[in-house]
Amino acid sequence: MTGDAAPSRGVWITLEGGDGAGKTTQAGLLETWLRERGREVVRTREPGGTEVGTLVRDIVLHHRGEVAPRAEALLYAADRAQHVATLVRPALERGAVVVQDRYLDSSVAYQGAGRVLDAGEIRDLSLWATEGALPHLTVLLDLDPSAARARLDADDKPFDRLEAEREDFHARVRAAFLQLAAAEPDRFLVLDATAPAADLAAAVCARVQPLLA
Ligand code: TYD
Repeated sequence: MTGDAAPSRGVWITLEGGDGAGKTTQAGLLETWLRERGREVVRTREPGGTEVGTLVRDIVLHHRGEVAPRAEALLYAADRAQHVATLVRPALERGAVVVQDRYLDSSVAYQGAGRVLDAGEIRDLSLWATEGALPHLTVLLDLDPSAARARLDADDKPFDRLEAEREDFHARVRAAFLQLAAAEPDRFLVLDATAPAADLAAAVCARVQPLLA
């Protein structure tokens, strides 16, 4: 975990991308592959990986009234602070592989580019919240927002507050993710989310393999 004073034995992998990009499917396939190799795997997500996080998740995704953009950013950061302190860091310290749906890149993309807050400030807020913790690998599943919307429509689940945003919001989010990946090529693996799930999984595993040594 970068920015961490204490060396940790574990491996931390986050998955990012727009809603409907297939993060959960890939997290599941990666978990199976890691378990077959005898690794302890902690599957988790933001928002909502802890008890406090579950409460925060309910506000950010389902509150019916207005949530001011800065309040939304702080809620995600609070969830993240609790998550890293009580779940992610302890898991890494005992040598587990943490496979996590979304992390600070989601805040930079959704609250930064989506809500039009300052991207640097949003990133710094998350880094403060987590004492500088960054994953070893971030897999970005890149998908055109209209293709993503078609997948979500096919799911037939009600949209949450973020999913319900308009297409230009999701186009900004996508562009921000790609920009983040370009700025940190060593941390990111960018994949075309329209590829078959098995091909994506193979690419992820190939990138994870050397991290397990
Ligand atoms: P998501 O993982 O998509 O949950 P689900 O699969 O159940 O829909 O995340 C929920 C939403 O939260 C998603 O629309 C992205 C948004 N989000 C942010 O806006 N900022 C953040 O920092 C995080 C972690 C998520």
